Amino acid sequence: MITLALPKGRIFEETLPLIRAASIEVLEDPNTSRKLILPTSRPDVQVVLVRATDVPTYVAQGGADLGVVGLDTLIEHSAESGGMDLYQPVDLKIAKCRLSVAVRADFDYAGVVKQGSRLRVATKYTHAAREFFAAKGVHVDLIKLYGSMELAPLTGLADAIVDLVSTGNTLKANQLVEVEHIMDISSRLVVNPASLKIKRVALQPILQAIRDAVA
Ligand code: PRP
Repeated sequence: MITLALPKGRIFEETLPLIRAASIEVLEDPNTSRKLILPTSRPDVQVVLVRATDVPTYVAQGGADLGVVGLDTLIEHSAESGGMDLYQPVDLKIAKCRLSVAVRADFDYAGVVKQGSRLRVATKYTHAAREFFAAKGVHVDLIKLYGSMELAPLTGLADAIVDLVSTGNTLKANQLVEVEHIMDISSRLVVNPASLKIKRVALQPILQAIRDAVA
């Protein structure tokens, strides 16, 4: 059996056409089903639904053979695990967005950076944020949050946030402005290194079909 770990939402929806290229059709809709293990049109392939942040753990520790995860989540996982526990063969070029720094429209970000003052930064992406500000030589106090980062500058919890931006609508709706573009983000296919050896015959054609579908 080949097990594919997917998070619900945008990554799930955008992965479907890519795995269809390997003749894998998910047979149940995660939005209506309460099942966490979904059968596919191939009896030798199943999909497990996990939280986006849990995809790297499932795949690295063999709970799944492969998975799809955003580069944002992958960076945080790799910083904690050492980054050697996952094989990353394909940039799927889906769920594209960017990791950015945003502040309240009335906050003088450039001034604070220029003066060398400390910046209080709220984020779910502490490793990426630490690395970015360290490279810029900006001193930061990082505040770890798990969601609704946009609230932090509005309530005085932080001066800035590091968060994903796609359309920019969430920032705009909360009177925040983007002041730094840290990196472009897309989703990656990740594979358990042991599975790649043990299940090579079954996995290689799936990886190749996905590669071809991306190209
Ligand atoms: C992301 C991100 C922003 C929003 C940006 O959240 O954290 O809140 O999308 O998108 P926009 O620029 O198109 O408005 P997501 O919906 O992925 O949920 P999350 O907060 O659980 O990460």
